[in-house]
Amino acid sequence: MRPAGALPMTGLGRDEYIMNLKINPISSLYDLKKTHDIQRVTWGYRDEMIFPYTIMTSTRHSGGVLLGAYIDDNLVGFLYGYLGMGGGSLYLFSQRMGILPEYQGRGIGTALKLAQREQMLRQGIDLVVWTYEPLAGASARLNIEKLGGIVRTYVRDIYGIMENPLQAGLAMDRLLIEWHLMSDRVRTRVGGHVEQPSLREWLEEKKYPVINFANWKDKLPRPIAVDLELDDKVLLVQVPPDLQAIKKRDLSIARGWRITTRSIFEAYFRRGYVITGFAGAKKSNSFNTYKLEHKPFPSTVDFSSWATGLEDDLEDEQERN
Ligand SMILES: CC(C)(COP(=O)(O)OP(=O)(O)OC[C@H]1O[C@@H](n2cnc3c(N)ncnc32)[C@H](O)[C@@H]1OP(=O)(O)O)[C@@H](O)C(=O)NCCC(=O)NCCS
Repeated sequence: MRPAGALPMTGLGRDEYIMNLKINPISSLYDLKKTHDIQRVTWGYRDEMIFPYTIMTSTRHSGGVLLGAYIDDNLVGFLYGYLGMGGGSLYLFSQRMGILPEYQGRGIGTALKLAQREQMLRQGIDLVVWTYEPLAGASARLNIEKLGGIVRTYVRDIYGIMENPLQAGLAMDRLLIEWHLMSDRVRTRVGGHVEQPSLREWLEEKKYPVINFANWKDKLPRPIAVDLELDDKVLLVQVPPDLQAIKKRDLSIARGWRITTRSIFEAYFRRGYVITGFAGAKKSNSFNTYKLEHKPFPSTVDFSSWATGLEDDLEDEQERN
């Protein structure tokens, strides 16, 4: 038996990966146990942060989702979520998706989410929500642009302090994605009918005002100025293209980004802005960029309880360290 993380590189190109990819519910004991290895390898989690396969498999039999991504019958990623209820209707809370590092960025996460959408629609559920790191480019591109999720809730320090390398060092703030499965926005995007937004176009001739600025010093972007009082219909927020690289070189700059972007998202969400777009940095010394729109979106479930977060706040954390 081959442990997760030791899967052979097959030399397949992106399209061949997709052709060899199968998405299926995880049902064998071997693969259920392998989800533990994937959590260790993908996030660097220690035992107490690993979701036990016993819970995940029970959830699957109770209307939840436990899907595996298989290449040549090897499990290379999984997606896990359970049912939630709010405003009298059911939704899915999608708790964890991980793809082994050597298989990331090849469309496997997208394929898992599309299978999750199909399963939910079959069950008569049209809303899936989950949270993600606001400064993670791959998740933002996937969640907002490819899948068509929207964000209007900011969650402070969702689970307190983490010790795994991917998440350690920063308050664990998260954006809460709402994926309205039958909305026009989502249907267009999952049908592949939306072009990638062009950062150049957004910034050209100052088409949309930018909320925050940063300067690059020693190849590191440092936040310098923020305007929390703009009121244009569309606004842009610049975030660093590689959070992990900043964390490795200077944790205080990464924390500066956390505090700056927290203040921006909280202030503008409070005033009715919603994240509707994301464009990835295309050259060095440029930023990943979110698009915020002042636009009403119907809401069936109230997620505002998330916004209060844990009592354990960033300032306390910094004092402790
Ligand atoms: C987040 C994750 C699940 C996404 O799965 P994936 O298979 O890599 O996703 P996909 O390839 O379907 O889509 C990712 C998109 O982001 C793009 N991308 C990757 N890195 C990026 C970056 N730094 N900035 C902007 N876009 C980026 C990819 O190119 C791809 O877009 P494209 O298809 O237009 O090229 C996976 O990367 C992962 O397991 N990460 C670690 C664990 C994690 O953070 N999980 C999510 C929270 S639970």
